[in-house]
Amino acid sequence: MQTSNPPNPTLSGYEALVCVCGGIAAFKTAALVSALVQQGVGVTVAMTRNARRFVGPVTFEALTGRPVATSMWRRRDSANIQHLALSESADLIVVAPATANILGKLTGGIADDLVSTLLLGAACPVMIAPAMNTRMWQHPATQRNVAWLRDNGYSLVGPEEGRQACGEIGPGRMSEPETLLAVIEEQLLTVAPKTRK
Ligand SMILES: Cc1cc2nc3c(=O)[nH]c(=O)nc-3n(C[C@H](O)[C@H](O)[C@H](O)COP(=O)(O)O)c2cc1C
Repeated sequence: MQTSNPPNPTLSGYEALVCVCGGIAAFKTAALVSALVQQGVGVTVAMTRNARRFVGPVTFEALTGRPVATSMWRRRDSANIQHLALSESADLIVVAPATANILGKLTGGIADDLVSTLLLGAACPVMIAPAMNTRMWQHPATQRNVAWLRDNGYSLVGPEEGRQACGEIGPGRMSEPETLLAVIEEQLLTVAPKTRK
């Protein structure tokens, strides 16, 4: 992916909260975050415990210049309750990769870690980029969850067809960072940024 795009002046002042879940495609989210930052978007990253098995928080800290949120119990400042405050300053939440697990939690109203809790308390639109094995994607439970999310105002991007990390070919690959970047930019520009100075 092109990593030296000039900043897009129209995107400066926008804030994105990127939630990373535990899938192989987490490495592609690093490229997406890098591209967003280069476009002038302020990016904060939150990670699940399992996401941190795939990519370390230090990667996202270096790309964003900000601390990565990993726990509800480690507050970044004493004034704000992190799982609520994170999305209050965001124009868009992007869940990438979105695991079958987080789709199920969100659909079921489960809030048992930072990412699932902040998604239930989201104060801005949520864009979801699912990524999983084809059988997991085609499972009736996942398809039911995806239909519910679409019906309830979440925007889903992908997954794409192609070769999976497990070697199978079929739907389940997370959309490429370029594709996600284009959709995020389009979505951000539909409203003025919350916090532009
Ligand atoms: C090597 C490996 C790759 C995985 N890739 C995916 C994936 O792409 N999508 C997915 O939904 N789950 C994947 N999983 C399973 C999730 O990590 C597991 O369901 C986990 O509970 C998700 O937690 P989280 O949603 O809190 O991040 C993978 C597990 C392993 C060990």
